[in-house]
Formats: sequence, structure tokens, C-alpha cells
Amino acid sequence: MNIQTLENLDPTDLRGKRVFLRCDLNVPLKDGTITDDGRIRASLPTIKYLIEQGAAIVIAAHLGRPKGERKPELSLAPVAKRLSELLGTEVAFSNEIVGSSKALAVSSGEVVLLENIRYEAAETSKEESQREVLARELAKYADLFISDGFGAVHRKHASVYDIAKLLPHAAGFLVAAEVEVLKKLTQSPERPYGVVLGGAKVSDKIGVISNLLDKVNVLAIGGGMLFTFLAAQGKEIGKSLVEVDLIPTVKELLTRAESLGVKLLLPTDIVVAKEFSADATPTTVSASAIPSDQMGLDIGPDTAANFASAISTCKTVFWNGPMGVFEFPNFANGTKVVAKALTGVTGISVVGGGDSAAAVRKLGFVDADFGYISTGGGASLEYLEGKELPGLVVLI
Ligand code: 3PG
Repeated sequence: MNIQTLENLDPTDLRGKRVFLRCDLNVPLKDGTITDDGRIRASLPTIKYLIEQGAAIVIAAHLGRPKGERKPELSLAPVAKRLSELLGTEVAFSNEIVGSSKALAVSSGEVVLLENIRYEAAETSKEESQREVLARELAKYADLFISDGFGAVHRKHASVYDIAKLLPHAAGFLVAAEVEVLKKLTQSPERPYGVVLGGAKVSDKIGVISNLLDKVNVLAIGGGMLFTFLAAQGKEIGKSLVEVDLIPTVKELLTRAESLGVKLLLPTDIVVAKEFSADATPTTVSASAIPSDQMGLDIGPDTAANFASAISTCKTVFWNGPMGVFEFPNFANGTKVVAKALTGVTGISVVGGGDSAAAVRKLGFVDADFGYISTGGGASLEYLEGKELPGLVVLI
């Protein structure tokens, strides 16, 4: 699939043109303060380039899932401020989304950020006709649509998908770069190829695990979802997270992995505690002997070392999802050890997803430690699953 890209557009065609730019500025906030601005930084190259070419830019982005309601805690106002600081140029913030006087009046070299596009219920509507009405309103702002919100390209939303049908369009630099990396992972990964998956829910990852089994050499499973795997092996998992209805599917995956000769790594030891709390006392136990009154909150040190050693043998590694509750220092070791192992990979190492990216930065790593940090968790997983991503297909 070859999408049209900003790089291939004649820069002179951008001068004086009004561009509707979709970004993914869905950053974590705590009490109104941005705790990780990675997605804003990742959007800068395209914005700067458009400014330099003399385009007039209207940016749309979402924050959280307000479901059509104006929830003040999900306002993009703090993002507009941070974006202005990082660009070193004023970004006008428009409270109005449809019929915005600021967006209609934007001039060459200026940037307007619209308020959270998901305040408009039509943005995420399942009804194409409703999305189209919004897309038509948004298209009034521009001569051209540039899609650079990679984290949202798996969503069939008005500002991601429908608007591309109304305006000449191209992928921005971020979307183009993300797709290049994912192509390398899906088309001809250098081997051995290892995938490390974590995060809370198996249900979020079942598709990707199933799709990757015949493509990878090593698959390591950590995070909350590992306990459904242990349960599928008949192990006692105490009070740990489990998705009981998925146990039969996981059993099938384990059998398939074995018949395909995939090295499927599951924890041999677990860090457990009595409750889900930063102050809970951590104890390391065998993965076959989790006490009934305890819950697993991280992979154990032997498991982390084992995962790290498997990663170090790989030439291509994709990692999505923390290994434990990394937000609590007592349960961050597994995620730290895996992140460190990725930094030593001699081939290509990809950290997939906004949450995983924020996790590695919180643990003290920097972007340059890794081959590539993807800004899209759901989007990169769906790409690896082999699904068609509406926001990319529409850019062909
Ligand atoms: C993300 O955080 O992965 C993207 O911003 C997409 O957000 P969504 O899952 O709410 O669509």
C-alpha cells in the first residue's frame, strides 16, 4: 500500500494554501499539566515544515474520549500552550470547532488549534452520514488535508477518514515515518524477530498474538495479561487479573505456538503483593506458586533477565505494553529491564504506543535509546495484526 506523502508534494503548492492538519495530541495530563509531551514533539516536523512553506494551518486533534460532551478536563487548551512553546510561535486556540472564526481567518504561516474534536459527537459517530456533515464543515477551512495523527489512523472518524474524501490529501512526515517502520516489521523483518507484549488485557492483544505467531521467532508475554496465560496452563494465579472467557483461546494459542516452533516465553517468577497500591510490600514467588491472597503486579527478576537475554539475540524487536505496574516503583523493574534490553538491540527496536513510550520516558530512557518510538499503540498493533487502517487506506 503506497500512500501519498507530504514529501512528494511540490512545496510551492503549499504557499498560501490553507491546510487542515490532523494530529494526535492525545497526551497524558495530571491536574491540567502535561506529563509526557512526546506526541506534541512528534507532530512538530510537519507543522514546522508547513509554516516554513507559508501554509495557513488549522489543526484538529482529540484528547481522551469525551463522547460528544464538552468536558473541561479534556480541553486541548494546555496542549495549545505547550505547542506554542515548542514551536516558538503563537498557536491560536479556537474554542469553536465548527464555524470557527479563527480558523476561517487563519493566514499564511499562522497556526490555529481547534478545541478537542471529540467534543463533536459526529467525529466518532458510527453513522457515515453524521460524520460526513462534520467533515464538510471542517473541509471549509482548507484547500488540502494532511493526515499526521498516526495514533488515530485506525479510527474511522470524521477528521481522520471522511475529510480525506473531500479534499486533496497526503500523509504528514510522522504518519509516513510510522508506516515505513511498520512495513519493515511486517514485510521482511531481519531475524530473529522478537515481540514482547504486556499491558493489562489479553482481549486487546489476542488478535495481534494470533496474527504474529507464524511470523515471529520469539514471543514474550508480560503485564496483567500474562495471568490468563498462566491460568490456561492450569496454574494458580491468586487475586491476579484474569479474563476467564479467554482461557480456551489462550490454550489454543499455546498449542499453535508449540506446533509452529515459536519460542513463547512466559514468566517463571512473579512479583506479588496483597493489594494494588504503591506502598504494598512486594514479594517474589514462583509463577507456579502464587499465593491465593496475593496478586501479581510485575514479572520477577529471573523472568526479566530471561526476556532480556532473548531480546538480545534478536535483530528485530517490537515491544508494546508494560511488564508490570511501572507507575509504582516497587513494580517497575520488569518494564525497566525489558526497556534496557531493547536499547541494546543491534538491529531495529520499536517501542509501540503512546503508553509504552510514556513509560520508558518516565523510567528515565530517552527516545534516542531506541530504534523507533511509535506514537500509536492501537494503530501499530492493528497494523501488525494485518488489519486495514481506515485513516491510511483513504490516503492512497
Ligand atoms: C491513542 O491514545 O492510542 C490514540 O490517541 C487514539 O485514542 P483512542 O484509542 O481514544 O481512539
